[in-house]
Amino acid sequence: MTASLYPVADFEYKHDNALSMEEYKVLYQSSINHPNEFWGEQGLRLDWMKPYTKVKNTSFKKDNVSVKWFEDGTLNVSSNCIDRHLPTRAKDTAIIWEGDSPGVDKRVSYQELHDEVCKLANGLKKLGVKKGDRVIIYMPMVPQAAYAMLACARIGAVHSVVFAGFSPNAIADRIIDCGASVVITADVNKRGGKPLPLKENVEEALEREDVNCIQHTVVFNNGAPINPLANTQVWWHDLVSNCAMTCEPEEMNAEDPLFVLYTSGSTGKPKGLVHTSGGYLVWASMTHEKIFNYKPGEVYWCAADVGWITGHTYIVYGPLANGATTVMFEGVPTYPDERRIGQIIDKHQISILYTAPTAIRALMCKGDLAAQDSTRDSLRLLGTVGEPINPEAWQWYYEKVGEKKCQIVDTWWQTETGGAMITPLAGTTDLKPGSATLPFFGVQPALVDSDGNELEGEAEGNLIIKDSWPGQARSIHGDHERYGQTYFSAYDNVYFTGDGCKRDADGYYWITGRVDDVLNVSGHRLGTAEIESSLVAHEKVAEAAVVGYPHDIKGQGIYVYLTPISGTEITPELTKSVRDWVRHDLSPIATPDMIQWSPGLPKTRSGKIMRRILRKVAANEHDQLGDISTLADPSVVDNIIENRLNK
Ligand code: WT7
Repeated sequence: MTASLYPVADFEYKHDNALSMEEYKVLYQSSINHPNEFWGEQGLRLDWMKPYTKVKNTSFKKDNVSVKWFEDGTLNVSSNCIDRHLPTRAKDTAIIWEGDSPGVDKRVSYQELHDEVCKLANGLKKLGVKKGDRVIIYMPMVPQAAYAMLACARIGAVHSVVFAGFSPNAIADRIIDCGASVVITADVNKRGGKPLPLKENVEEALEREDVNCIQHTVVFNNGAPINPLANTQVWWHDLVSNCAMTCEPEEMNAEDPLFVLYTSGSTGKPKGLVHTSGGYLVWASMTHEKIFNYKPGEVYWCAADVGWITGHTYIVYGPLANGATTVMFEGVPTYPDERRIGQIIDKHQISILYTAPTAIRALMCKGDLAAQDSTRDSLRLLGTVGEPINPEAWQWYYEKVGEKKCQIVDTWWQTETGGAMITPLAGTTDLKPGSATLPFFGVQPALVDSDGNELEGEAEGNLIIKDSWPGQARSIHGDHERYGQTYFSAYDNVYFTGDGCKRDADGYYWITGRVDDVLNVSGHRLGTAEIESSLVAHEKVAEAAVVGYPHDIKGQGIYVYLTPISGTEITPELTKSVRDWVRHDLSPIATPDMIQWSPGLPKTRSGKIMRRILRKVAANEHDQLGDISTLADPSVVDNIIENRLNK
């Protein structure tokens, strides 16, 4: 933890109007000591239909977790992201879309955004969608994905965006869990020059016997030839062709749900986290403005996907609530080659780039190529999110992308937190590569040992958050008990993040990674239990154990141990069929990197798989197994070590 320090004062770009460190500390203390006053004032950054009179009303008791912010206020999220900017910014660009192929792009003004969102909102109403109904959005990275989200928000429907990389089964599971009535999708998703079928995946999902809640599928034509559709399907352009360009925004309570977003946990099926309207938007807007020190007129690019929380909060809701110009990129950073990111920055004169360490590492692989043929002179700030950033990647990002001119804000947060929680503020916080630095306003992080004792000063432990913040998820859709169980039962009256963390002598936080059975593969969150249950559904697999291991580009790779059904011959074809099975059943992002067959798995005498051992072997640290005396059959371990794949 003796890391180098990059003082804010040394940077050429002087984020004028940023808070000083002293001002941050004073404001931070007041946000903790007087949350009602602090957030009561911050809530005014939004337009309310009916002003709130109450601000914070929250309880973290595990049997009755209750999180309410601004609970008697009403508002509409889409009119906060669009209509209120129209008097001053109707012609300003809301969205710059950069297509998969270089040379294909488009600008959408706030007026156009308004018109497109209203037309689709009216179209959805025609299909019978009402306030509170759930709508699945399974879309490429095109402006229509944002229109779809905002159209739902406009009429009070609850959207659930499913990442376009998910397979039919994963779509079906999410449709059923949230009981959606409509799916909005596109014919194809273009990624790196290859069209991927989206509509077909939806059709396959809807064919599953247990899916019977969907009444309509809306299909956006993203460039494939237009063919006739089935009678429950409608082309987006046909649906909206006679729709008005105005649509009265629905009056929503601050605590009405805005969206459900699924994420993986350490057990069971994915959880649909419920985010509500008022607190979420206050959090999205304030964090976007303060962390990036965003100023009107700047072009801001969050290179995430709208299928993840980062895309929700920092491509769509945060920037648009602030009247920003937000970039949406359809493609991948390495297509046609690694120079693409720099070329996009120059072309659209981007000031702020926010991306994931895994993308940085993928670019780094090709040396300096990413820095060729672009000046990146317009950049003043860089950001990262999604996983711990290793010092080499930080240095490369700082030197090659930012030309040593730009501060890097390393933002720690989660699907559950709605927006960034531990993060530098541009122009305010001195940086240490690899540290997410200090808490945002209203966030009270603490470290505890495994018994829940709070650790003071310089320490390492499990990261908890002691009190509620406005952007917090309110529940797990359809299972409030699981919400309490998952996040509030490990330690009393606090939120448990699932992350391990260190705090240094300056009070800086260093996230060390998950302490539960959740993997972070290329910034994508995957539960080992989820992958295991997919694996054991393969006809030749008797038992499966999945662990993560350090991977140069992905951060973590997926290492799978399998025992075959007895009598099965282990062939390369069988291994391939298992790999393809998971790809198809869950998603290509869940594809195992290494598959090791073994006659048995190391278990305790009570039958529990000793994952600690499997993790060590996968990490090629089999010489550090520790105590294995509680194993039922130690010879299993010898076999596993002998046949290990990561050497
Ligand atoms: C997990 C949450 C935050 C939106 C995207 C991921 C890890 C996230 C950082 C960071 C170290 C990070 C944590 C967290 N994580 N940001 N800056 N430094 N680790 O959201 O899919 O809900 O995953 O990502 O382990 O718990 P998510």
